[in-house]
Amino acid sequence: MAKLQALPLWQKIVGGIVAFFVLLQIVGIPTLLSQTNPPVTVNVKWDKPETEALARRACFDCHSNETTWPIYSRIAPVSFLATKQVLEGRKYLNFSDWGQKPSKLDEEGKLAGEKSADEIQKNKMPTPGYLFIHPEANLTVQEKAALAEGLKVVFPQNPLTNPNPKTKGGEKPGTPAEGGEKPGTP
Ligand code: HEC
Repeated sequence: MAKLQALPLWQKIVGGIVAFFVLLQIVGIPTLLSQTNPPVTVNVKWDKPETEALARRACFDCHSNETTWPIYSRIAPVSFLATKQVLEGRKYLNFSDWGQKPSKLDEEGKLAGEKSADEIQKNKMPTPGYLFIHPEANLTVQEKAALAEGLKVVFPQNPLTNPNPKTKGGEKPGTPAEGGEKPGTP
């Protein structure tokens, strides 16, 4: 202890910062363990290769199980933020298991294609923080329009899209929505 007190102030400060950083990494271990990429269980039917390329570029890191986890995303405190975004994003919309279980969008009765188009056009998705670190995900006006239009086609045409009575997807013939037992459904 006497030895520590003899250290110059700057060394104590640096030592404190290093110790805090090390401690933070230990606290971050459970977060690290949740940075997984579960298996991809759905093959999305894309309308055009361009839609897929744009979605992969701008959305897949947070809305699929094909997340790239760069080194900095493994280091606390960045890891906390990155993991939260990915796990939360996948709950809303996950291209890797789309339709196999109700997403938060289904639960909220929102149409995935329309909502996605809206988020893209209003510059809410991809999130501004993500774009700051990933300039390659910054889409041009034309690319945004192409992705928005593409996703509006892609989501409804994937047969696995979860038919939720609350969504307007209930118009589809044969869904268990109100009109389920209408005569003349194919
Ligand atoms: C940095 C990670 C990240 C990226 C990249 C990203 N999202 Fe998201 N997205 C989230 C998170 C987190 C949420 C849930 C919280 C929220 O709404 O902000 C979300 C929510 C959504 C929602 C639901 C919004 C709502 O309020 O119901 C839609 C739709 C969506 N994202 C579409 C997209 C599309 C399309 C892209 C690509 C153009 C994209 N996201 C890119 C993280 C991301």
